[in-house]
Amino acid sequence: MSLLNKINTDNLPTHLAIIMDGNGRWAKQKGMLRAFGHENGTKSVRTTVEACARLGIKNLTLYAFSTENWNRPKLEVETLMKLLISSLKKELATLEKNDIKLNSIGNLDHLPKGVQKELQEVIEKTKNNTRMTLTLALSYGSREEILNAVKKISDKVKNNIISIDTIDESILNNHLYTHDLPDVDLVVRTSGEHRISNFLLWQIAYAEFYFTDVLWPDFTEEHLYEAIISYQKRERRFGKTSEQIQ
Ligand code: IPE
Ligand code: IPE
Ligand code: MG
Repeated sequence: MSLLNKINTDNLPTHLAIIMDGNGRWAKQKGMLRAFGHENGTKSVRTTVEACARLGIKNLTLYAFSTENWNRPKLEVETLMKLLISSLKKELATLEKNDIKLNSIGNLDHLPKGVQKELQEVIEKTKNNTRMTLTLALSYGSREEILNAVKKISDKVKNNIISIDTIDESILNNHLYTHDLPDVDLVVRTSGEHRISNFLLWQIAYAEFYFTDVLWPDFTEEHLYEAIISYQKRERRFGKTSEQIQ
């Protein structure tokens, strides 16, 4: 029996965020170059995106490239950028077929022009899709995102557009790249690493975490279902007592 039958579709995470990790180690285990791992990682992206849409998850955010990843060898960065362009071209059909809207977060100005162009095109073409929003975190760093928000708010205070007394959580939230997205309910990280690596620090304040040793290119629908089943067994108390929740 597939694990799918154990999922309660009334209690899905509204926002699932995945740190897709382990492509390099996957390739190394096979005696191949890291690029081979990244290429195979794109298959897991497609499987995961389609499975999430079928389940009824409304928001899926994938960590594809961090601000820190710019420090990798030039050749690897170039390979990843090329792969991004070809995946965007190839997967437009998948997004259309599944009624998925593409969104992106991060310092997009830093991306090569070719990536920016392809990204904008797919975002434009899928903007009226409503089944699920797929957000790609590209050249994304959470500290940078928060810093930018602080600067934008400070500027508004300086120009008397808002007053300091009115700054609250929702104002800060509205100045993040993720302003249109709900808080994250579940973070999944593959490859056995137990860390956040500068991902959505503000947005995960009350998220649940699920770590698996599976390397990203090996991640299948069944692994996704396992993560969701684990999430559904948890009691999210948000500071309250168990009795208050029930
Ligand atoms: C995740 O896999 C993909 C990116 C960070 C771009 P890695 O490339 O980090 O793979 P490992 O962690 O070295 O195995
Ligand atoms: C996090 O993975 C970033 C992405 C998955 C895009 P890394 O492999 O870059 O993270 P660290 O360096 O191991 O923390
Ligand atoms: Mg890694």
